[in-house]
Amino acid sequence: MLTPADATTDGDATLLQPAQFRAALRSDVTRGLGASPKWLPPRWLYDPLGSELFEQITQLPEYYPTRTERAILTQCSPAVADITGARTLIELGSGSSDKTRLLLNALQERLPGITYAPVDVSASALAQAVAALSTDYPGLTMAPLVADFTTNLALPPLPGPRLLAFLGGTFGNLLPDERAVFLRSLRSRLAPGDRLLLGVDLVKDPDRIRAAYDDAAGVTASFSLNVLTMINRELKADFDLDAFEHVVLWDPQNEWIELRLRSRREQTVVLHDLGLHVRFAPGEDLRTEISAKFRPRRLADEMSKTGLEVTHWWTDPDRLYGLALVARDDDLTPPR
Ligand code: AVJ
Repeated sequence: MLTPADATTDGDATLLQPAQFRAALRSDVTRGLGASPKWLPPRWLYDPLGSELFEQITQLPEYYPTRTERAILTQCSPAVADITGARTLIELGSGSSDKTRLLLNALQERLPGITYAPVDVSASALAQAVAALSTDYPGLTMAPLVADFTTNLALPPLPGPRLLAFLGGTFGNLLPDERAVFLRSLRSRLAPGDRLLLGVDLVKDPDRIRAAYDDAAGVTASFSLNVLTMINRELKADFDLDAFEHVVLWDPQNEWIELRLRSRREQTVVLHDLGLHVRFAPGEDLRTEISAKFRPRRLADEMSKTGLEVTHWWTDPDRLYGLALVARDDDLTPPR
């Protein structure tokens, strides 16, 4: 995450400096396309068009996580407000901040004058979310931050108790090692009374999961391919989108979904800004995202290994999706 010194302030939003954005992109692309197998960190999927395509994904009939999470939040938000007594809501990966309204409503009802700090890698999504919320929540204090919390987490020093919301299943975008690093760093930054509300997609029939990432309308294919468009634009590359195919794989060992772009032929892509030539064999894959699915017991184990404890758990009747309320294992007394 950025400290204020690293960022510029433009109106309400703290924006990532272009130079920093470019340095991170260059290093990620150099590393990922030089690796075998080839991969890219999922955060690069969320340029303005990518964020918009993801919003479209959330409306697809096959994509159950968003609407299921919303249904669970509708049920549990008053309880979350009661249990946490939060004065500040920090949302990691806030995106459109759409479902956040359910939490904001419940928190505000309990305690008018709360602060909302959305944190996202997409400046455009953040700016839109803040604009929309300021119309509907005139009295709400907002402290938005453009940052990649997966690599560098720093929580804004806003009034406690703070509720951290990490919704949408984005936690599942991290590899197991990255999740452990993230959870440890999060734990060390939790003050007494602070809590984490974590949304996770659950293990279920693989066909149902695959369909959610391989929709009939092809929106997820466009979403994944858009990362190539972004690299073409930002790094003067010449990816031919027609030469790659959207592939969705369920990995039964790791219980995660992989989005990949499969080269339809032998080809060499030139990235002019990096002075890089990248060869793809026919059928060679570039992984653009993983999305891990969880079992409640395993999630609880993963938490306790990092000194955290799931204190409350909510799910839907079909157990498609879960929300975990998490505390430091040495801070289990309710804050109120
Ligand atoms: C926003 C990361 C939770 O993994 O389900 C949706 C992203 N990718 N369809 C997910 C995504 C393809 C989504 N997350």
